[in-house]
Amino acid sequence: MSVDQPLIVGNWKMYGLADSLAEACKVAHALADRPSRARVGLCPPATLIERMARALAGSVVIVGGQDNHMEEDGAFTGDISATMLADAGAKLVIIAHSERRVCYGESDALAAAKAQAAAMAGLEPIVCVGETLVERQSGRALEVVRSQVFGSLPDYLKGRPFALAYEPLWAIGTDMTPTVDEIVQTHTALRQAMVERLGEAGKRAPILYGGSVNPKNAHEILHAHEVGGALVGRASLRGEDFLAIIRAID
Ligand code: PGA
Repeated sequence: MSVDQPLIVGNWKMYGLADSLAEACKVAHALADRPSRARVGLCPPATLIERMARALAGSVVIVGGQDNHMEEDGAFTGDISATMLADAGAKLVIIAHSERRVCYGESDALAAAKAQAAAMAGLEPIVCVGETLVERQSGRALEVVRSQVFGSLPDYLKGRPFALAYEPLWAIGTDMTPTVDEIVQTHTALRQAMVERLGEAGKRAPILYGGSVNPKNAHEILHAHEVGGALVGRASLRGEDFLAIIRAID
């Protein structure tokens, strides 16, 4: 069984107003002229999901959310359910990004519940794992990410589309990246953990790398063994930079 088509996703985090949609349209137009072998997604703040989905309708760029609640609806002020994201036009959702694990104390169990809710709503969850710098320096990185895989991927994902994103915390927003050898070693360990956890289903899902991916380092990272795409933060806010990263895979 081969690995699914590569996936390159931009995470706009809490950046972007209506005029930022022009950046998304630039990417969509360029891909209409010259398609990529990767699937491409953008995850804007929730306020822009519906407008972006309308602006990109008919293009190859798919739209996603950055988080969803584990319940379908309820008295949860400020939260958004996966069903609501899908209703707004989202096809993907980022789950348990480290900024949510760290800022809001999200656990592996919560990640698994959210990923299941996403898949039940027909969204493709991108489940994030990653170690801290202290964990990497003390030689515990592989043990940490393996245990995050076992705790964060629900059985429900078997046979359904999803992706894993390896995002070392110390590489996010810092301009530091692991070496390509470290990325390959970690992705190989993650693949093994996914297969142990989900069997055949764990063989197919792409493993994205995330953390300071930019137009300069994208080629080397995206062509490394077991790297099935990228989750891109800052560099996805400018259409030109995001496009340069997408082009690096072809
Ligand atoms: P960055 O963020 O590309 O700005 O480092 C990556 C991420 O948080 O997904």
